[in-house]
Amino acid sequence: MSDAVLIERHGSILVLSLNNPPVNGLGLALRTGISEALDQAEADDAVTAVVIKGAGRMFSAGADISEFGTPRSLADPNLPSVCLRIENSKKPVVAAIHGVAAGGGLETALSCHYRVASTKTRLGLPEVTLGIIPGAGGTQRLPRLTGVEAALKLITSGELAPAAKAQKLGYVDEVVEGDPLEAALAAAERLAASGALRRTMEIEEKIAEARANPGVFDEFAKSIAKKARGFDAPFACIEAVKAAATLPGPEGLAKEREIFKGLVGSSQAASQRHAFFAEREVAKIPDVPKDTPVKEIATAGVIGCGTMGGGITMNFANAGIPVTVVENDPAALDRGLETIAKNYQATVDKGRMTQEDMDSRMTLITGATDMAALSEADVIVEAVFEEMDLKKQIFGALDSVAKPGAILATNTSMLDINVIAAATSRPESVIGTHFFSPANVMKLMENVRGEKTAPETIATVMDLSKKLKKVGVLVGVCDGFVGNRMLGPYLREAGFLLEEGALPAQVDKAIYDFGFPMGPFAMMDLAGNDVGWRIRKRQRAENPNNLRYSDIADQICELGRFGQKTGGGWHDYDDGRTPTPSAKVEEIVVETSKRLGIERRKISDQEIVERCLYPLINEGAKVLEEGIAMRPCDIDIVWLFGYGFPRYRGGPMFYADTVGVKTVYDKMCEFHEQHGDLMKPAPLLEKLAKADKRFADL
Ligand SMILES: NC(=O)c1ccc[n+]([C@@H]2O[C@H](COP(=O)([O-])OP(=O)(O)OC[C@H]3O[C@@H](n4cnc5c(N)ncnc54)[C@H](O)[C@@H]3O)[C@@H](O)[C@H]2O)c1
Repeated sequence: MSDAVLIERHGSILVLSLNNPPVNGLGLALRTGISEALDQAEADDAVTAVVIKGAGRMFSAGADISEFGTPRSLADPNLPSVCLRIENSKKPVVAAIHGVAAGGGLETALSCHYRVASTKTRLGLPEVTLGIIPGAGGTQRLPRLTGVEAALKLITSGELAPAAKAQKLGYVDEVVEGDPLEAALAAAERLAASGALRRTMEIEEKIAEARANPGVFDEFAKSIAKKARGFDAPFACIEAVKAAATLPGPEGLAKEREIFKGLVGSSQAASQRHAFFAEREVAKIPDVPKDTPVKEIATAGVIGCGTMGGGITMNFANAGIPVTVVENDPAALDRGLETIAKNYQATVDKGRMTQEDMDSRMTLITGATDMAALSEADVIVEAVFEEMDLKKQIFGALDSVAKPGAILATNTSMLDINVIAAATSRPESVIGTHFFSPANVMKLMENVRGEKTAPETIATVMDLSKKLKKVGVLVGVCDGFVGNRMLGPYLREAGFLLEEGALPAQVDKAIYDFGFPMGPFAMMDLAGNDVGWRIRKRQRAENPNNLRYSDIADQICELGRFGQKTGGGWHDYDDGRTPTPSAKVEEIVVETSKRLGIERRKISDQEIVERCLYPLINEGAKVLEEGIAMRPCDIDIVWLFGYGFPRYRGGPMFYADTVGVKTVYDKMCEFHEQHGDLMKPAPLLEKLAKADKRFADL
């Protein structure tokens, strides 16, 4: 027997310790070990009961990820049969749970006859977040312990609930302070003495109600329809729990297995697994090793308390970091601080934050009108207007105010970090921290390294991203960095599609149906069309060319239609937020086609998706080639967290691998022929397509 399961005797009780560091993943050796130990317990008359616990930090976090995609993950004994083996044991089996019991770990515990957890334990079934359902009885056993409604909520959200909540809901029997072993041993003794075993699959009371009222499943599906739009797994979870309530036990288990197997090889599951691993991968920076010193961030400063500066200030306060925010104009400072208070108040009013929390966050925020107030800050984030001369002036002034070693960050969306850094005598401390709007909500921080940014500055800002509960992705300097640069061709093609025959609502719907939270025109209306207008003017002045250019967006801006904030943009917004088609915009679009001599044609939704997304992917290939992004997964995370790319498609580069790099390349060649040089395939895309390789192979 391997040492994947450590066996000890405590009197007449056999204690099995799951021992597969770091998280006791339920790999083949561990599963075999549990089965064999149960055989041993049953064969030994001196053993009266069994306790299963985890060695090390936790009970078990579930499947062994090193087995993902290998035959070992499904090899016998598989987890469903181990769970049945535990449940059907003739001698009582008690779970002693500490740390975490997640996924297969919790399914193992649910098969035991009694569960003791320590107060700090968290327990849940997070499979849905990886695009699958629990496949070892979790969807059948949990509702038998908690009732259907609680199980549906837990399984479709993937929530890891604290022990107290798990006990309240019924899937933990006893909660104790500290090590749960002693209480588990006592419970095992009691059960052995009583001779009565509570086998979870035999419990009926809790699911009887749903059996009488099967409408509960449709209602629940409706309640998550908006949040789970496009995802298969949450709805598959509902179907599996429904099987628990409507089928006899063994058939329910079989149904769960069938649904599980249908999903585990799906492209959604592959995409969500990719997203999960990519989120971890982006923290690794090859030339900034893990042991690079990280500076302590005890206090922060923000310059500019407008849309972004206000949100960034809130991020620091939310993380418990005292922050001083500077505006040069006292009236602007008052307005900015008021907006922050209003934002917090709205959260309090919705019951998502206590008044005390709001108060303590507000006391961490200090307003000032002089940059001298930032002399003690460990990090300073500049978020003034997007004007190079202003940024240079601010960084020059910061250089004389900030203490030595302070991180000087800019929230610029597009400007050259190297030029900004050159305005100081310490370019090694200068870095871009590109937050996304609304900055207190969006999880992405595109951290931009300049030529001279020091490894320590990078390590500190990547660490800061985590402290602010953001996902930091490190990128290099170019116009628009990774995200906004790739957004360029996407918006450009959306504009051309209008000239050729589409209308904004159709383009938006096709992209929404692809899985984005909104289409390109609704997005521009939200961000403010004046922002893009200014950028296009700058770009055209800096880089004049004869390439195709759609001026519809400019015509719309000339009418002052800047989007939601002006009550109209690409769409009309009579009530402030809901878009309705604009007759004026349609007139402009149709007139423009006429002026250009373009005969309007019917454009399919598929063409819209390909025309918008393939050039975006093509730009991603250029970004990779130029080393602006380190890896395809960095680009994917930028798009998943910054732009709402559907997680179940894994991000643009993973999506390209899913549809096939060759498919994307062939289509780009076709577009190139039809539409000219803006659509020229990137050399890297061509190289991969011709070698029959994927971005993942880079
Ligand atoms: N709005 C977005 O969606 C977004 C997203 C990402 C990045 N950004 C970038 O963030 C930065 C700020 O953008 P915003 O949308 O918050 O702009 P904003 O106009 O809402 O805010 C800018 C603030 O800076 C203040 N300011 C100007 N000069 C100042 C000075 N000398 N000292 C102190 N304060 C000064 C202004 O009073 C104003 O309150 C820009 O670089 C922008 O490109 C914006």
